[in-house]
Amino acid sequence: MELCKTISEIRQWLQDWDNIGFVPTMGYLHAGHLSLVKTARKETEHVVVSIYVNPSQFAPNEDLASYPRDLTRDLKLLQELNVDAIFFPDDREMYPRGFKTWIKVDKITQILCGKSRPTHFQGVTTIVSKLLNIIEPEKMFMGEKDFQQLVVLKQMAQDLNFKTEIVGCPIIREKDGLAMSSRNKFLSSQNRKNALCLYHSLQKAQEMFDEGIRDSHKIIRTMTKIIERSNCKIDYIEAVNPFTLEHQDHLQKGDRVLLAVFIDGTRLIDNREIR
Ligand code: PAF
Repeated sequence: MELCKTISEIRQWLQDWDNIGFVPTMGYLHAGHLSLVKTARKETEHVVVSIYVNPSQFAPNEDLASYPRDLTRDLKLLQELNVDAIFFPDDREMYPRGFKTWIKVDKITQILCGKSRPTHFQGVTTIVSKLLNIIEPEKMFMGEKDFQQLVVLKQMAQDLNFKTEIVGCPIIREKDGLAMSSRNKFLSSQNRKNALCLYHSLQKAQEMFDEGIRDSHKIIRTMTKIIERSNCKIDYIEAVNPFTLEHQDHLQKGDRVLLAVFIDGTRLIDNREIR
């Protein structure tokens, strides 16, 4: 497994490799990330993983400084999965002095998570553009937990003619339903229990749909009650079209219900497809 800290080092290895599968991460890997690596392993010949906590996607009041990190453990986990190369640059390598260029996707970055995190997606699209230009993968694998991120990056790849195919992969959950996230580490045992309300409210949305209820406002009202009962603060709950992220009054199969919730200061997101 090649360990590359600089763009020139990773580019040297990539020269001889075709059919690259790429998994971008911010480290502190969990089973969700590892499932992306396993899918990349199956679908592409060489697998490259990046580990970089990208400062430009955090607002000054967010958790950049406390974002969990454990490079030694991450490298061990990736070695076990036979990853070909790890790219783990530092800030100077990715944002050298004089850096001035930002990638901004309109409209779909200003709704949902973009309302409370107005600069977040610009940070994500900029770093992912840079990573795609450095790695030039055939396919990039991303989890559907960050569903809005996936839609934004697909839009960016289409608009800017990136040749990489962006592949969305299913959410990986703990046994009790909590979606895997590096931020789950911040939850106390009581908050960890309360956090199940995200999953339960999404399950309830599907149950109501199965009973024939299509009015998304009614479904969202019920979800709101479930979350408020668990002492959590709702950022948003929305029912959207999965391609445009437009609000849906009337739910149809294939639509997505998305939510973001604060649990004692930790912001968690989750979503599910309505089937
Ligand atoms: O989803 C993430 O972990 C990050 O947003 C990403 C895609 C690695 C960009 O920093």
